[in-house]
Amino acid sequence: MTQTALPVVRTVAALRAQVSAWKREGLRVAMVPTMGALHEGHLSLVRLGNQMADRTVASIFVNPAQFAPHEDFDAYPRGEDRDSALLAAAGCALLFAPTVGEMYPDGFATTVNVATGVSEPLEGVSRPHFFGGVATVVSKLLNQCRPDVAIFGEKDYQQLLVIRRMARDLDLGVEIVGGPTSREADDLAMSSRNAYLTPEEREAAAALPAAMAAAVGWLREGQAAEGVEGRVKAILGEAGFGKIDYVEVRDGETLERLGPGPVGSGARVFVAAWMGKTRLIDNWGV
Ligand code: PAF
Repeated sequence: MTQTALPVVRTVAALRAQVSAWKREGLRVAMVPTMGALHEGHLSLVRLGNQMADRTVASIFVNPAQFAPHEDFDAYPRGEDRDSALLAAAGCALLFAPTVGEMYPDGFATTVNVATGVSEPLEGVSRPHFFGGVATVVSKLLNQCRPDVAIFGEKDYQQLLVIRRMARDLDLGVEIVGGPTSREADDLAMSSRNAYLTPEEREAAAALPAAMAAAVGWLREGQAAEGVEGRVKAILGEAGFGKIDYVEVRDGETLERLGPGPVGSGARVFVAAWMGKTRLIDNWGV
């Protein structure tokens, strides 16, 4: 059986026309913003969208504003035909795939910045440009589509918290929902960037989820956060991870530092570490 092609719109006007038509019919609309290079994780968010709404819109836009000049914007994997077929099969109703010119027309001068709180630690330290770029593009996407609900993966857990804060602060009137992280058979979190790993690196990367699972066990036993962070760093170093940007146990809502001493069940372990030239991130709830 051939899959019907997914309708694609490339302008804000066309996106709004379709979403308004659905709203006039009384339908609820979900949005799943992505940067393409889709995998099962993204598709699970589309399926979650369909559970929460009548129509799910996905967007694909590799957002230059969230990459620093030395990062992988040019290398970031792109393939709209493949992505579009996967979205259609997952039950997505519409693809919004704008050009850079549609999103950032000449003279574009406004940025959205979640200035304090959940945007500050972790990625806020390692990638200082990142959340400004994300908050700017996501506020635009949500204004453009005006969905009832928008879904983001918990794999980028801090991003989810930053977007939730931004949507609340700017009264966007959109419910922000997190979807659980999809994992490979060895528990490595699915990520478009996993495609950069060589076969040897991919095998070695399994140490990351294994260390996270161990960390959660140690924290539940009552071991102190600092000691657990040190043990995880040592495991990653031995497994061949090079630079470790952070391994930190923080509160899962506020991202405040926890400890010294045993941490409670609201804690979360966050990691960002480099395997060769690939930066991997993950987070596990305690
Ligand atoms: O998580 C992503 O893929 C991106 O950061 C997002 C939310 C689509 C914004 O560009």
